[in-house]
Amino acid sequence: MSIRYVEGTKQFILETAETCYQMKVDGMGYLQHLYYGGKTGQSDMSYPFRTYDHGFSGNPYDMRNNRDYSLDSMAQEFTSFGVGDYRITSFRASFADGSRCAEFRYVSHEIIEGKYEIPGLPSAYDNGETVHTLIITLKDFAVNAEVKLYYGVFEELDIITRAAAIINAGTEPMWLRKASSMCLELPFGKWDMLHFHGRHCMERQPERVPLFHGVHTLSSGRGMSSHQHNPFVIICDRDANEDEGTCYGLMLMYSGNHKTEIERDQFDNVRVITGINDDRFRWELTSGDTFYTPEVILSCANGLTQLSHHYHRVIRNNVVRGDYKLKHRPVLINNWEATYFDITEEKVLSIAKKAKELGVEMFVLDDGWFKNRNDDNAGLGDWIPDTEKLPDGLDGLIEKINGLGLLFGLWIEPEMVSEDSDLYRAHPDWAMTAPNRAPMMARNQLVLDLSRKEVHDYLFDTISNLLETYRINYIKWDFNRPISDVFSHSIPSSRQGEVQHRYYLSLYRLYDRLTRKFPNVLFEGCAGGGGRFDAGMLAYSPQIWCSDNTDPISRLTIQYGTSFGYPACTVGAHVSASPNHQTGRKTPVHTRGVVAMSGTFGYELDLTKLSDEDCAEIKEQIKRFKELEPIIHDGKLYRLSKMRDTSHYMAWQYVSADQSRAVLNIVVTNPLANSAPVHVKLKGLLPEAVYSVDGEFECRGAALMSGGYTFKRLTGDYPAKQLDIIRIK
Ligand code: DGJ
Repeated sequence: MSIRYVEGTKQFILETAETCYQMKVDGMGYLQHLYYGGKTGQSDMSYPFRTYDHGFSGNPYDMRNNRDYSLDSMAQEFTSFGVGDYRITSFRASFADGSRCAEFRYVSHEIIEGKYEIPGLPSAYDNGETVHTLIITLKDFAVNAEVKLYYGVFEELDIITRAAAIINAGTEPMWLRKASSMCLELPFGKWDMLHFHGRHCMERQPERVPLFHGVHTLSSGRGMSSHQHNPFVIICDRDANEDEGTCYGLMLMYSGNHKTEIERDQFDNVRVITGINDDRFRWELTSGDTFYTPEVILSCANGLTQLSHHYHRVIRNNVVRGDYKLKHRPVLINNWEATYFDITEEKVLSIAKKAKELGVEMFVLDDGWFKNRNDDNAGLGDWIPDTEKLPDGLDGLIEKINGLGLLFGLWIEPEMVSEDSDLYRAHPDWAMTAPNRAPMMARNQLVLDLSRKEVHDYLFDTISNLLETYRINYIKWDFNRPISDVFSHSIPSSRQGEVQHRYYLSLYRLYDRLTRKFPNVLFEGCAGGGGRFDAGMLAYSPQIWCSDNTDPISRLTIQYGTSFGYPACTVGAHVSASPNHQTGRKTPVHTRGVVAMSGTFGYELDLTKLSDEDCAEIKEQIKRFKELEPIIHDGKLYRLSKMRDTSHYMAWQYVSADQSRAVLNIVVTNPLANSAPVHVKLKGLLPEAVYSVDGEFECRGAALMSGGYTFKRLTGDYPAKQLDIIRIK
């Protein structure tokens, strides 16, 4: 059993293959955090804690004059609020009597087999592994608020999931102002934070900084998990590197507004709190109601590589769902960067024909295929094929594409509406706008108020209708603006603070209904590139378009940053034209292929305009990707270059699950004259096995891992090399 309760000491011990998590109900009934880390062989980890008078920190009333005990310095599983712990809090609410304080003490617990689910929200699921759930109930008796803390222990995966439920156990309403998913305390040590910030076309840039005294906040209030701050953070030992050092990951499984706060307090304790962003959040809980928070996938590992492996495994096996979870993802050609809105059936078919010749498996028709959509100013909402562009209709086009031997995929942006659309003219109140206020426009479009039942039903019917009418194998589901002017015309003014979260509850339900109804359709998430790249979306769309920046050199850092939390099989990546449309940079097609292969792999350019030489290279790339896909998508990733090397080259490696094959990749990002040779130490091989190194020589795994490999000199514009390491003995 991975969860134990020790009656005598009132301790909870959660164990995974290599980690241990401990907490304890203290004499006052508070749930103290004791330990999270590698196994210690010591069953009780309360011994490092010493309490003493912290001077200006107060004490709970029950302690009277015992000044050694203060909530302000105690490590806790769910914090109090307004009663003397002045640090960041898990919870805030106001109550019918006007009070704004709460503190939660232990009431009961239960341990159950299997993984809990969270009503209305995506969560990691039990995929046949050993999983147990611990639910601890805490209560504030003054205001009759209960909190249930959920811990899902995935023993073999070294993953603990966390979530909370807040219950109004009283008779009067209460108003939640903050309901975080979890609190993690690190009472000892010196820590860095590694987070993934960015912007449109430059998502998930890794930044590692030492935690200073005070509060670091990483958040999104944009109505999407955002290009700016991914809801994934790593707290690691100051000396931690890829190979060793304690690293904690907190991945919030939520696609809307989120907030992670990290406080290093006056005594150097670090507290991390993550969950829904409390900014403009206010949720009314009437008597007996429960509010469920999104889930956090928590992991602890020795080194950043191992931490990434934990996340890659859990996302692949326990987050992603549906037929395409473990299936080959078709190599696709998307017409966006080839034609933009300027679609004609002739152009589309000529690209598709060439694509088929080169080995592509699916054609994806991007934005611009529907009525009144000649630029990004109109048309969103109606979803009726444009028969001027497609004279034989969408069905006619699909027939021709299928006739070429290609599958067919379609782009939609269902959550949006253009003012210039029949949908908006019929239902202006379905758009998110605040009363008497002209809304912010972005890409000249508005966001539909998905919190409304009519909107939800309309979208379910419209998308179902598309999928039933046409032979569609894949949907690219886009979302091209942040949400603003948050207001729903369908609920009372007192509940407007709920709209953003209700939006996501409805979106998840919509996705859930559609993916259940159409299990054969592959969904790819997208939000102006990678603006909604998160575990919440991955529960419904096994892959997400990683960035609108398709320049392979920019993609190196975007995909590098993404790789800390998310596996390659989730990363939408395409070979596009050179010069690149976003940066103007010229790169060889080989380099573009090597970079895009570290993702779901496809093409996004006018193949009819390429030289025979480039076409021949593409033909080879597709063959190669199909051969390498199991290693890249199901194997282990090793980042071989450190962040500071990125000005010169990037090297990374995939190793198959059975360690019999590896792929070593290098891209030179800044060729230097007369530079020292690039030398990397391989990882993850079998030390005793003998490998053929790209047919060049034979070598033991131990030698390649300790003695490394020296690349031949690579010169020219952004050269790349991909080597096969194949076990021969
Ligand atoms: C943004 C996406 O990220 C692009 O790939 C493309 O689909 C455009 N939207 C279409 O409007």
